[in-house]
Amino acid sequence: MAQLWGGRFQGETDRKAYEFNASIRFDKRLFHQDVRGSVAHVTMLAKQGILSDQEKERILGGLDSIREDVDEGRLEIDDTCEDIHSFVEMHLISRIGDTGKKLHTGRSRNDQVALDMRMYTRERVEETDFLLKELLSVILNTMEENLDTFMPGFTHLQKAQPITLAHHFGAYFEMFWRDRQRMRDIYERMNYCPLGAGALAGTTYPLDREYTAELLGFAGPTLNSMDSVSDRDYLIEFLSALSMVMMHLSRFSEEIIIWNSNEYQFVEIDDAYSTGSSIMPQKKNPDIAELVRGKTGRVYGALVSLLTTMKGIPLAYNKDMQEDKELAFDAMDTVRDCLVLFTEMLRTMKFQKENMALSAMNGFTNATDAADYLVGKGVPFRDAHGIIGRLVLYCVEKKTSIENLALEELKEISDRFEEDIYEAVSLKTCVEKRLTIGAPGADAMKDVIEKYKSFLEESI
Ligand code: ARG
Repeated sequence: MAQLWGGRFQGETDRKAYEFNASIRFDKRLFHQDVRGSVAHVTMLAKQGILSDQEKERILGGLDSIREDVDEGRLEIDDTCEDIHSFVEMHLISRIGDTGKKLHTGRSRNDQVALDMRMYTRERVEETDFLLKELLSVILNTMEENLDTFMPGFTHLQKAQPITLAHHFGAYFEMFWRDRQRMRDIYERMNYCPLGAGALAGTTYPLDREYTAELLGFAGPTLNSMDSVSDRDYLIEFLSALSMVMMHLSRFSEEIIIWNSNEYQFVEIDDAYSTGSSIMPQKKNPDIAELVRGKTGRVYGALVSLLTTMKGIPLAYNKDMQEDKELAFDAMDTVRDCLVLFTEMLRTMKFQKENMALSAMNGFTNATDAADYLVGKGVPFRDAHGIIGRLVLYCVEKKTSIENLALEELKEISDRFEEDIYEAVSLKTCVEKRLTIGAPGADAMKDVIEKYKSFLEESI
């Protein structure tokens, strides 16, 4: 039971209470951020004459040796200390003696942990942005290769109108692109340094907070010390953005699971990303997509958990806030793993283009275009809608499709039908005539793809 405080206490902490309170088991992942924060703090203290240059050098040397020993496996971050901050400080004191006791001058663990968590989160925001970019480039490649891969577009999971695979994937490009924008927004808003806020009310030492912020790559210092130690908004924003990423991945997974089903056979997931059954030899299951869909729940859980933890906390720091870590770390790791695996699954997935086109041809996805054809021949749209409705009913009864009917049969339903109806309702025409911005026609898609390419180059 090693802790940094105790002067005021007469009794020992209960063993179970100590363990309940300790956070080193999970905050050990903040080790590098903690050391970097201490290096900046000490450098600033020396610049301000609060520490001598000699003291600064001794402390920096000590911190560096601890960092090196941990990195190279000579020093294990075990559970003997209460938290990662105590671990670093205690090892520093045991290595360099009394000078080590000056490290914490003008600092509290409250602003220290606020800094560590913010720096750690900032790195994870960048990592998420990078992984989203990887996914977007796979989506964009698929789009470029499938401008004329026809497939049915659905509403209510019922065939609606024909689209292309490029167009369908474009919808996901948009979603993950917005996710990247969210990363950028969060990064900018959170990029202010809380160190120097002290326990809650700043300090009487003449700290140069702007200098500390600059040393740590922040845009500047935070402006209210109470908020600095008790703000976890940035983390909630990140968890919210991660939840959104998972919601998008989960929708995409659901579609892939449907497309990979025996009934659809639109795609085939590579063996590397499928699994078998222990009893049914024929099975090849889309487990990765199912797991991504399933893990969405735990990421939402982390968001709701932190929102709930924060909602009743009076200013400023309270120990409840230590609960910001475990589930947030789990959510960050989960999203990272899901993005990596999903991207690879997508990269290696095969598209059964013939099945897709066949499916678009059966199911009257050209019914709207047939109505539009009649509009072109002078029939008001509402009447055309009714005529094509009757035509579809006729086809359903005859178990055929519009383009397979003879012109005489068509004329029986409306004398406006001419020979050019066949061309007008062909899959190719139906898709390629849709040329408004955002529509699936290849020429419209090409312009959009050019824009997407330039988006991809942008980063945080
Ligand atoms: N382990 C603590 C946390 O994660 C560090 C801050 C401790 N501060 C305090 N006043 N006990 O929040």
